[in-house]
Amino acid sequence: MKTELLFAPAATAQAELLAVFAADNSTSPDSSSSKEKDAKPEVGLLSADEVIRKAASYVLSTGEFKAEPNETLLLHAPEGLAATRLLIVGLGKAAKADPHAVRKGAGTAVRFAKPRGIRSLAILAPEGNFDAAQSTRSIAEGAILGDFDSDTYRTDRKDRSIQSLSIIVPASADKSAAETGLREGTIVAESQNFARTLINEPGNRMTPTILGQRAAEMAAEYGLKCEVHSTDKLRELKMGAFLSVAQGSDEPPALIVLTYGPADAPDGPVIGLVGKGITFDTGGISIKPADSMEKMKYDMAGGAAMIGAMRAIAQLKPNVKVIGIVCAAENMPSGKAVKPGDITFAMSGKSIEVLNTDAEGRMVLADGLHYSKQLGATHLIDAATLTGAVAIALGQINAGVFANDDETYRHFTSALETSGEKFWRLPLDDEYRDQIRSSIADIQNTGLTRYGGAINAAMFLKEFVGDTPWLHLDIAAMAWLDADKPWTAKGPSGVAVRSIVEWVRSYS
Ligand code: BES
Ligand code: ZN
Ligand code: ZN
Repeated sequence: MKTELLFAPAATAQAELLAVFAADNSTSPDSSSSKEKDAKPEVGLLSADEVIRKAASYVLSTGEFKAEPNETLLLHAPEGLAATRLLIVGLGKAAKADPHAVRKGAGTAVRFAKPRGIRSLAILAPEGNFDAAQSTRSIAEGAILGDFDSDTYRTDRKDRSIQSLSIIVPASADKSAAETGLREGTIVAESQNFARTLINEPGNRMTPTILGQRAAEMAAEYGLKCEVHSTDKLRELKMGAFLSVAQGSDEPPALIVLTYGPADAPDGPVIGLVGKGITFDTGGISIKPADSMEKMKYDMAGGAAMIGAMRAIAQLKPNVKVIGIVCAAENMPSGKAVKPGDITFAMSGKSIEVLNTDAEGRMVLADGLHYSKQLGATHLIDAATLTGAVAIALGQINAGVFANDDETYRHFTSALETSGEKFWRLPLDDEYRDQIRSSIADIQNTGLTRYGGAINAAMFLKEFVGDTPWLHLDIAAMAWLDADKPWTAKGPSGVAVRSIVEWVRSYS
């Protein structure tokens, strides 16, 4: 998608479709009671442009368009406009029409256009209490994310991607801020889509080795250092936990290490990103049921998020060192596979009793986190499709976040304000430690009970981070969307990329 800013009247934009935003200005709390349903909404167009207002005035006066979030209304051949269609996109209540609503609204416009064969789009940045940089960033992000589709292996696939997007910015806006917003939004969203593309690949086309190659190609393109190690190096590093997962597969594991270091980086923090890169999770000897097992191709979504985040970091160039690690392996049952009851020694020296070979993510991350610290990381973040239990706890609205340090968590919550992603904090109290006490080794890889499964997994990881400030993102329930949303396609969501990037930038 080619993007540009247009500092010209919206009426002059040459596009197959011009999208403008509208909000509901009424102050009633909701429209659930029948009396309120009949009341006419007070829809306000988020544009002061007289030509646009005139073109939309009749249809808005009918009251059939309520400006609900992501509601759309299409007008053909709008009078006075160079664009051939005018699309009005709702952002919901005016008080909630923030940059996050704009991001979704832009995605909705793109996903409205795609199936109709529309290839050129103009979106009018909202006017009113909107900051130009925030608006252009949100629109670029939403549009680029909305352009992604996952049907890559359809032989009759038609490329319906949007070719050109013009973001129309009011003449009064700060031009250089608007340019910055567009640039940052494009980098971050394209990096999130890069992660989605990796996640979307099936297990036979995304082995640990291939993931390593894709990371190395990306690193070469954007000037990052990249090393991809395999079995020999894992043995040398004594990564017994990681190796125990990989040993059941004919596919060799990959330890991917991406390094970003600006020449003038201060002696301050070194940020360590660690991602779970299980390219397929059968469960191993503790094999999963056949139903939905195909979904386990997305068990490398945490690793892909880290590779996507590094791609964005390489271009945004924050003034802080970053080491990105992905622990990639395939979890398979075989004559060589690790068995329930087996004992392994993690790189840190801790002994682990493997009670369930399907709890493999925490095993590879244990060594990845330890290694990241050895490479100098002072602040850690990991992302993993770690537990089904996090879906039970939080549903498919919030991902889980765990933190062993409040200050580090505060950095993350401020990153969420920019990214617009939803994460909910879950606890790590010492009392939970009893769940992973083993009778034969230092720890066991599953909890004594099924209760608090996401917490038990996080407590396991905590054993390997020590006192280093650390965040753990359990994205199991959010990494894959089962159905289309108005603003984004079903399939890999690319969750966590934007939040990780902003969290890293907060240390710059
Ligand atoms: N990859 C799964 C977790 C998962 C579940 C990801 C659903 C995405 C969607 C993980 O390796 C796993 O199997 N975890 C087990 C842990 C259990 C054996 C303690 C689980 O959640 O059941
Ligand atoms: Zn598993
Ligand atoms: Zn897994």
